[in-house]
Amino acid sequence: MQNKKHLIIISVLILILSGLVYYGLLASNLFPTQAANQAIPIDWLFDLELKLIAFFFSVIMVPMVYSLVVFRKSDDDQSDGPHMEGNTTLEIVWTVIPLIIVIILGIIGADNLKQVLAVDPQANEIKVVGFQWGWRFEYPQGFVSNELYLPIDQQTVLKMESSDVIHSFWVPEFRIKKDVLPGQITEYRVTPNLLGSYVVSCAELCGSKHAYMLGNIHVVSENEYTTWVDDQVKLAKEIELASLGKPDSGRGKQLYETAGCKACHSNNGSKGTGPTWSGLFGQEVTLADGSVVVADEQYLFNSIKQPALQTVEGYPSNAMPDFSYLKDGQINDLIEYIKTLE
Ligand code: CUA
Repeated sequence: MQNKKHLIIISVLILILSGLVYYGLLASNLFPTQAANQAIPIDWLFDLELKLIAFFFSVIMVPMVYSLVVFRKSDDDQSDGPHMEGNTTLEIVWTVIPLIIVIILGIIGADNLKQVLAVDPQANEIKVVGFQWGWRFEYPQGFVSNELYLPIDQQTVLKMESSDVIHSFWVPEFRIKKDVLPGQITEYRVTPNLLGSYVVSCAELCGSKHAYMLGNIHVVSENEYTTWVDDQVKLAKEIELASLGKPDSGRGKQLYETAGCKACHSNNGSKGTGPTWSGLFGQEVTLADGSVVVADEQYLFNSIKQPALQTVEGYPSNAMPDFSYLKDGQINDLIEYIKTLE
């Protein structure tokens, strides 16, 4: 009778504490906004795990604390406790039950992963290049952007590759994260389901500016997406046409900001991963092999097109990604911009 009373009290306390711990964990806002279909099964599984965590925490804590308080030895009790050899039934039970739980969670996890990786054959494809330290998005329509626009409620597959070291594409609101490797293409499938702007971070330590390797992502309606793509195609054509003519420092400055140059080359003389562009034009530059060249148009052009060929003394070789995707006219625009920096 007495035992039954203790059991009932403990059970009730376990239920109450489980609820408190679960809602406490929920209230602490562990997750950012959910913005992709792939996040739904992930959040569902996480929620299930929170419930299990709350329950098992209570199953352990309540009987322990209850026993400490209720079954405390009275001061005048000098007797020994009962002698116990062990309990085979109990040991089998506490081995088999967790085993079953772990197997079930494994099956649920595998099914969950299947949902997250589900392929839509109609998916839009965009190429992503990760580099030290930024992201470049190459659209199949033939233009390059430093911001990623995605249409809502459509699956997009990002074909990702790195031009230098290992990076990792991570958008917390989409929940999924995938490594971006040099010389190997990895796939990232996402179906955004909430309009808004998000940020992709790099989640793999990749050098001194790893923490600043961020990129903007905009999830827009299908109409907005089409308009944006059309605008970009037009813009890319205009740039190509314009740069056939006279190089322009304004376009060069814009490119400096968007193509990733800014991450390593300052325009005010301060030292970066690469030499500053300030006062660079016309200067004598000592190369790693000891030779001295003048930073004229030809030198700058070659340095942007094939960075590995002429490393400046005191700077790491092969640190600069390949910018050969830039059109010649765009490189001339950049050179024109460098000329304006005193
Ligand atoms: Cu790229 Cu960290």
